[in-house]
Amino acid sequence: MKNFGPAILLVILYIGSAHSQSIKSSLNPTFDSKVDSILRLMTLDEKVGQMNQYNGFWEVTGPVPKEGDAAVKYEQLRKGLVGSMLNVTGVENVRAVQKIAVEDTRLGIPLIIGYDVVHGYKTISPIPLAEAASWDLEAIRKSAEVAAEEAAAAGINWTFAPMVDISRDARWGRVMEGAGEDPFLGSRIAYARVKGFQGDDLKAVNTIAATAKHFAGYGFSESGRDYNTVDVGTSTLYNDILPPFEAALEADVKTFMNSFNLLNGIPATGSSFLQREILKEKWAFKGFMVSDWGSIGEMIPHGFAKDGMQAAELAANAGSDMDMESRLYVEHLTALVQSGKVKESVIDDAVRRILTVKYELGLFDDPYKYCDEDREKAVTGRQDFQDAVLDMAKKSVVLLKNEKQLLPLRKSGMKIALIGQLAGDKDSPLGSWRALGEPNSAVSVLEGMNAFPGNSLEYVEGVKFTEGTPGFAFETKINTTDRSGFEAAKNAARNADVVVMVLGEHGFQSGEGRSRTELGLPGLQQELLEEVYKVNPNIVLVLMNGRPLIIDWAVEKIPGILVGWHLGTQSGNALAQVLYGDYNPSGKLPMSFPKNVGQIPVYYNYKATGRPTNPGSDLVFWSHYMDSPNEPMYPFGYGLSYTSFEYSNLKLSSDGFAKDGSITVSIDLKNKGSVTGIETVQLYIRDLFASVVRPVRELKDFQQVELKAGESKTLSFQITEKSIGFYNNDGKWIVEHGDFKVFVGGSSQASLEKDFKFLEK
Ligand code: NOJ
Repeated sequence: MKNFGPAILLVILYIGSAHSQSIKSSLNPTFDSKVDSILRLMTLDEKVGQMNQYNGFWEVTGPVPKEGDAAVKYEQLRKGLVGSMLNVTGVENVRAVQKIAVEDTRLGIPLIIGYDVVHGYKTISPIPLAEAASWDLEAIRKSAEVAAEEAAAAGINWTFAPMVDISRDARWGRVMEGAGEDPFLGSRIAYARVKGFQGDDLKAVNTIAATAKHFAGYGFSESGRDYNTVDVGTSTLYNDILPPFEAALEADVKTFMNSFNLLNGIPATGSSFLQREILKEKWAFKGFMVSDWGSIGEMIPHGFAKDGMQAAELAANAGSDMDMESRLYVEHLTALVQSGKVKESVIDDAVRRILTVKYELGLFDDPYKYCDEDREKAVTGRQDFQDAVLDMAKKSVVLLKNEKQLLPLRKSGMKIALIGQLAGDKDSPLGSWRALGEPNSAVSVLEGMNAFPGNSLEYVEGVKFTEGTPGFAFETKINTTDRSGFEAAKNAARNADVVVMVLGEHGFQSGEGRSRTELGLPGLQQELLEEVYKVNPNIVLVLMNGRPLIIDWAVEKIPGILVGWHLGTQSGNALAQVLYGDYNPSGKLPMSFPKNVGQIPVYYNYKATGRPTNPGSDLVFWSHYMDSPNEPMYPFGYGLSYTSFEYSNLKLSSDGFAKDGSITVSIDLKNKGSVTGIETVQLYIRDLFASVVRPVRELKDFQQVELKAGESKTLSFQITEKSIGFYNNDGKWIVEHGDFKVFVGGSSQASLEKDFKFLEK
């Protein structure tokens, strides 16, 4: 028998968690009654303790209120005043804190251990935005499953992922963490990621609880500046921001995290509209809501709460169940209940939710179930994980341009110059939010290309665009003066048949707190690109990026462009295999690439203005810029292949349908090239006239299909009420009769279209 605290031992015997099935089923069979049995034993302080989450002692992913307070935390842990810890990693460390919670406290309630396992734990997958570019839901689910298994083996049982925030603003550094700009794709991916982390059995030792974050609106921060104000209308809130959260809930996500931002003047953390009305009442969410780091306390500088006491009151009453590191619940909630400002039923509800998730994880059966050193050793870095993240990485690459058929590269007889600091970098490809990914553990592009020995390869850094060692806690310093490597780069290029230039952002230039106002190639990289181009224009540009970048010059001049994101541990292998054609690129952009910063936010599913087109004279009175087109450089859903696909024969089974009916849409797709390729066929809808204006296009379905050279296939989709309904400004789902268009093709600019009607009868 585990060494539980004395009182909880009684409860465990009573509820039979550690006992025979017959005792279990005869006594309190449901979680609810088990949890209530514990709740009855708890003092108010102990209940409040369950709502308190502390950072561990080893790592920080946010500002720390007080330094050197490990002793205070230890003491509170011993008193049962801590319900969860974050950033405690590795079996040894997790066991140490769990042991205190289980063996030293009066009730012995186990901790739930949270960590940002965002795209891998030690074996790192591509950043989530890159994964989204694959549109491959099974690969994405698998990537989350791998991350969960590796993290669970190291003591973690709860990840603060997936981030399901929709964003249309590439200046916001956290776009790297999400699935891009579209609520439909974002919802499908949210569902897949939750399923991947949580699996079918949350009690299994290789699954962990997931978190849908940040609830809500965080991705719409004004000017793309992190933590900034969010003001959005109800149409955007209900139709664009909330759907991926609802999809996560459909996948049975166990926790939500609120967000730092104000939403229409109310901090999300203090919003009962979001947390109670929508999440817990309308959506009937049964899990718990954790605050974002310190967000309860941040309601004071927001100007919403006058002090810590009031911040705790407002957050608890609004439905924030657990306080991540503002330390205000543990300080004030007991007094707030005693003074009647917070009802004890609010506390009971929060604690019940937290204990229920602990039960569902099986922590009451065995609080050390994630603490097995042998499993940790056997599981970490497993070969099948490497295979899965390599597969994911290859599928994430997007081919933007391939003129002169520069790609794929021939495997022999060529001289290749490989240029760029990022080409040799083994750290940057791990990207931001890399959990415990070992620094410098990624396969570099140089290493990946060296695995193809048939060509002669000369590597030159060209320019070091970052100075010092970029890291999570540091600003990335950019070199803007040292051009001493330019000559060597140009010489290598001069002698080469093809130049591969790996340029872009360092992995730590995107992520939390990493907003940017300029989205070109940082530092002297653009200058280097232009200099090299002068001596050899046969350039393949491989971007490394955590967000859409502005590459207008390159798009005009450079014949081959690949979006290589930050692809994780297997980055260089994935990119080399794509460059050499062992994998034919199949990615499609999950976010539009703007032409310039002034266009942002630029996204495909915008609403038409009353003056959408040029009146055809020299009058300026239509919705446009004087100095830039309205269209992005590359639209959502765009991506090429080494083969080409032809779309034809768009057909509808009928030109109208009524309630409970549907229309079948079919399309013929042909691989017109000479190699096998994967295409993501996308279906968009436009509702032409509606009581709340609908976007010019909305993605409503997609399918991936692999076709051999010359092969054709007919694909079909169903249009139902679900495809044409929307939320009105009261948040009510409605379906309106009238006229629609459907478009099918290989991007959001799909050109084949048909009309149909949703009929009254
Ligand atoms: C703040 C971030 O906004 C959130 O996403 C993360 O989970 C927490 N810090 C914990 O690291």
